[in-house]
Amino acid sequence: MNPAKRRTVIAGNWKMNFTPAEATAFINEIKPMVAGKDNCDIIFCAPFVSIAAAMEAAKGSNIVIGAENVHYEAKGAYTGEVSAEMLKAIGVNTVLVGHSERRQYFGETDETVNLRTKAALAAGMRVILCMGEVKEQRLAGITNEICAMQIKLDLAGISAEDMKNVIIAYEPVWAIGTGLTATPEQAEDACAVIRATLAELYGNEVAEATTIQYGGSMNDGNAAELLSKTNVDGGLIGGASLVAKKFTAIVDAAQ
Ligand code: PGA
Repeated sequence: MNPAKRRTVIAGNWKMNFTPAEATAFINEIKPMVAGKDNCDIIFCAPFVSIAAAMEAAKGSNIVIGAENVHYEAKGAYTGEVSAEMLKAIGVNTVLVGHSERRQYFGETDETVNLRTKAALAAGMRVILCMGEVKEQRLAGITNEICAMQIKLDLAGISAEDMKNVIIAYEPVWAIGTGLTATPEQAEDACAVIRATLAELYGNEVAEATTIQYGGSMNDGNAAELLSKTNVDGGLIGGASLVAKKFTAIVDAAQ
């Protein structure tokens, strides 16, 4: 990370975990553990039904509660979806878009990810845009090309001004939930490619100011080394974001 140039962001992605009562208990537990640790932003993205409870518990703390997805239309016949306006109405200003599980299991494409990102930005939300290569692409030696292409497709039509509200989460799909972590060098290399692509699209100033997280089995044991890399400005954490002690250790590694 390079705190002189950009904000470090440690975000949890709870995925399909934590009922409202469990979310309340978790936030109450972790709140005192991360209090005053202000060198990074601390975010938990919660399932829709648990957002309100988590927000209530997080009130007055340095913890921000976000959502795990958002639809691109304002309203209408989109069963099971939630719009940016709806999220804003309950006070949610941060949202994950394009998580690999959405792409893998729910048919999201770079096109829908782009639409969702645009809708969230238009509503004034901050987006954590997730992208990264699958195992076959890494093995084929095309990780850099895939990362550059995804960034271009996912950010198509998004202005330099809007990039102030975009965080990129580089998440190699083979490392998510598998216990396999990219080496710090692999993470650094991919994040550097993403930053170079941002520079190509928006110029150096925007590229240098954009937070790029690493995600994929980041935990209390490997966070410090990953976060020591210049182009790794934080983490998007799944499994370890469900355990207060582990997540706090990652926040500590970012201090
Ligand atoms: P993981 O998940 O930390 O459990 O690998 C990361 C993510 O999906 O964002």
